[in-house]
Amino acid sequence: MKLYRASPQDGVAWITGGSSGIGRALAKELASAGYTVAVTAREGDPIDMLIAEAASLPGKIVSFPCDVSDEIRMADTIAAIEGRVGPIALAVFNAGAYIPMAGENMSVRKFRRTFEVNVLGVVNGLVPTVRSMQARGKGHVLLVGSISAWFGWPTTAAYGASKASLNVMAQALKYDFDKINIRIQVANPGFVDTPLLKQTAPSLPAMMPAGEAARRLFKGINSGGFEIAFPRRLVWGLKFASIMPQPVRHWLISTLTGWKSRPLSFGRKAPRKRTETADR
Ligand SMILES: NC(=O)c1ccc[n+]([C@@H]2O[C@H](COP(=O)([O-])OP(=O)(O)OC[C@H]3O[C@@H](n4cnc5c(N)ncnc54)[C@H](OP(=O)(O)O)[C@@H]3O)[C@@H](O)[C@H]2O)c1
Repeated sequence: MKLYRASPQDGVAWITGGSSGIGRALAKELASAGYTVAVTAREGDPIDMLIAEAASLPGKIVSFPCDVSDEIRMADTIAAIEGRVGPIALAVFNAGAYIPMAGENMSVRKFRRTFEVNVLGVVNGLVPTVRSMQARGKGHVLLVGSISAWFGWPTTAAYGASKASLNVMAQALKYDFDKINIRIQVANPGFVDTPLLKQTAPSLPAMMPAGEAARRLFKGINSGGFEIAFPRRLVWGLKFASIMPQPVRHWLISTLTGWKSRPLSFGRKAPRKRTETADR
């Protein structure tokens, strides 16, 4: 049996984190291809602006605001999408947060929030969506990871680990999803110019606009390969680095990023109030 690949005739495309950056551009790409696109993010106003902007496209965009880290509300959101707009044929788990963290300033709170959004935020949507797809006998899901999933970079102890989790999750689920006619893919984009990267250096190697990243994601969704990774030049370099012996890669990355000569920054204040003890 040929593994299912989503198409607009079969139902709705649902995208989390669709109000900004890559998700917003992908929502427009999907609506241009004729999909009805259900968009989820915490804030409703940016989704309303997107709906207005996409009014002339062949498909339409519908707003379903929700915090992906809220398990109950996510299940309710999926039920609302399927009740009001139609069955979810394609689900893109794209909402994500990048909370940079230097090793000398680690915080439990930053680790927890990163995993609540980037990992459990995906699980909260994936489990009920797949249950519903399974009942219909077909479905297509995409988890948005990152090139930072392949090995550790400075500041990405939480973010990179969360994206590595998504890659392993997708690999593990593919064995069973293939048998229940649910296509699972994982996307590992390189650097994309979006608000997510506002805390990093102004220019990063092979940085691309969100519209270009969305076009590549859309192409990858349609071609159906397991991993969608781009841009190719950066991907090849990093895949090669991922198989280097750890000491060589450590030297290379700390030299290329300038991390070797970075002064340590002990910026964290000592906890005083009871509420601050969560940040330990
Ligand atoms: N930019 C890059 O270079 C890059 C590279 C590789 C991978 N990625 C991944 O691509 C995805 C999209 O990133 P982006 O760069 O487009 O970021 P972005 O512009 O900051 O957009 C993030 C989106 O996620 C939503 N979001 C964040 N927290 C949420 C929550 N708790 N519940 C629901 N929605 C939430 C945001 O809306 P609200 O704030 O309104 O909730 C927004 O729509 C992320 O998973 C990111 O890790 C990005």
